[in-house]
Amino acid sequence: MEERLLENARTAMERAYAPYSGFAVGAAVITDTGNIYAGCNIENASYGLTNCAERTAVFHMVMAGDHTVRGVAVIADTLEAVSPCGACRQVLAEFGSGAAPVFMANLRGEIRRATLGELLPYAFSGEDMDAHEE
Ligand code: THU
Repeated sequence: MEERLLENARTAMERAYAPYSGFAVGAAVITDTGNIYAGCNIENASYGLTNCAERTAVFHMVMAGDHTVRGVAVIADTLEAVSPCGACRQVLAEFGSGAAPVFMANLRGEIRRATLGELLPYAFSGEDMDAHEE
C-alpha cells in the first residue's frame, strides 16, 4: 500500500499549480475498495483560496463515488518529510478512521509514518453533533 500510494502522490506532485509559492505537493488516498485517488495543490491569485494536495485527493475520491479513506500519502521537495496541514487533517478525518496510516515523504526518500488519529487527536466529527438539541 505504502509504495503504490507514494508513487501516485509523486506523480500528482507534477500536476501542482503553484505559481505563487513555487512549492509543489502531491497526495494520494486509497479507499476500502482499493481505489487510489491522487491530488496536487492548486493555488489562486487570491492566496487564501488555495487548495492543498490532500484535499484535492479527497475531493477527487468523493467525486468518483468513494467515501472511505484507508491510507494517505503526501510528498513534497522538503528537507524533512512533509506533514499535512491542519485543515487537511480535518478533511481526511471526515472520511478515514483514526487507524488509517499516513505516509509523509520527501523527494530524498525519507518517509515518516503516523496514523490519522495521531495527526488529529480528538477530531471533530458528525457524532459530536448527535447530542445537540435544536
Ligand atoms: N500545501 C499542501 O498542498 N499540503 C500541505 O499539507 C501543506 C501545504 C500547499 C498549499 C500551498 O499551495 C503550498 O503548499 C504552500 O503552502
